[in-house]
Amino acid sequence: MDYPGTVSELTTRLRAGGYLADRGLATALLVSLSLHRPILLEGEVGVGKTEVAKVLAAVFGRKLIRLQCYEGIDTNQALYEWDYARQMLQIRALSDRQVADEQAVDKLFGPKFLLERPLLEAVRAGDQAVLLIDEIDRADDEFEAFLLEVLSDFQISIPEIGTIRAESPPTVILTSNRTRELHDALRRRCLYHWIGYPAAEREVEIVLVREPAAAEHLTRKVVDAVHRLRELDLAKPPGVAETIDWVRTLSFLGEAELTPEAAGDTIGAVIKDRDDLDLVSANLEEITSGA
Ligand SMILES: Nc1ncnc2c1ncn2[C@@H]1O[C@H](COP(=O)(O)OP(=O)(O)OP(=O)(O)O)[C@@H](O)[C@H]1O
Ligand SMILES: [Mg+2]
Repeated sequence: MDYPGTVSELTTRLRAGGYLADRGLATALLVSLSLHRPILLEGEVGVGKTEVAKVLAAVFGRKLIRLQCYEGIDTNQALYEWDYARQMLQIRALSDRQVADEQAVDKLFGPKFLLERPLLEAVRAGDQAVLLIDEIDRADDEFEAFLLEVLSDFQISIPEIGTIRAESPPTVILTSNRTRELHDALRRRCLYHWIGYPAAEREVEIVLVREPAAAEHLTRKVVDAVHRLRELDLAKPPGVAETIDWVRTLSFLGEAELTPEAAGDTIGAVIKDRDDLDLVSANLEEITSGA
């Protein structure tokens, strides 16, 4: 299925998949898809950076390939590894005479024993895939430099097998929570879009798309309260994910109103830090009242 040619069409398709993109994000995505440029999404925690890649892949019938970055991730985990266990089994199955045969040994480093990791998988899948490189800021510098290389030519050399190249590159979405500055070189390769917290109206809409059974009245109250929480000086301000969780929790408990008591009982759905908890608990009245 081809990607759409207009911002409104893309917006409609994403919405059908349960994702509400504002005009800025939809435009940035459209350009990225049309020009085959990777897009770097930065933003607050829990504002839909990862989700947009998932929904994009789902609604356009692409395979989602996710490379989750973390401290210490290395090229083996990102590209490919040899399946040592199977290689060992194969060696044991070979007779002494066969082991002496160079060809039999070469076969041990053939496609059968290659374990695909996300980047190799993405190069092979080409434009049938959406490659999500999630939380790139958690990986270290060297890994970022290596990624840059892969992203620039979508070509992977495996000494034992040869070079594998993507005929047409996959769609690439990178996300970052800005725990570390990314290199200029990486930024330059990508289109960039910042996803901030949605306006209240839109956040209500997002919650209702995600949680259609939720009452609109309660949802509005929760969104207002969350917006007030975001104005406090919290260590971990709540994202959209927390708003959804809070509405879900209150609905589950059968609460129709966001009273200070109900908020206090369920605050763990939205506040996830000890100091924040103290600050918020002392101000529940104000947070839930709309003052
Ligand atoms: N615009 C949106 N439309 C629909 N759902 C959204 C939107 N924004 C956020 N969500 C919801 O919020 C949840 C959290 O989003 P997601 O995991 O993509 O956030 P994130 O920005 O990747 O957060 P993190 O920085 O923690 O990785 C999603 O599961 C989704 O349900
Ligand atoms: Mg994420």
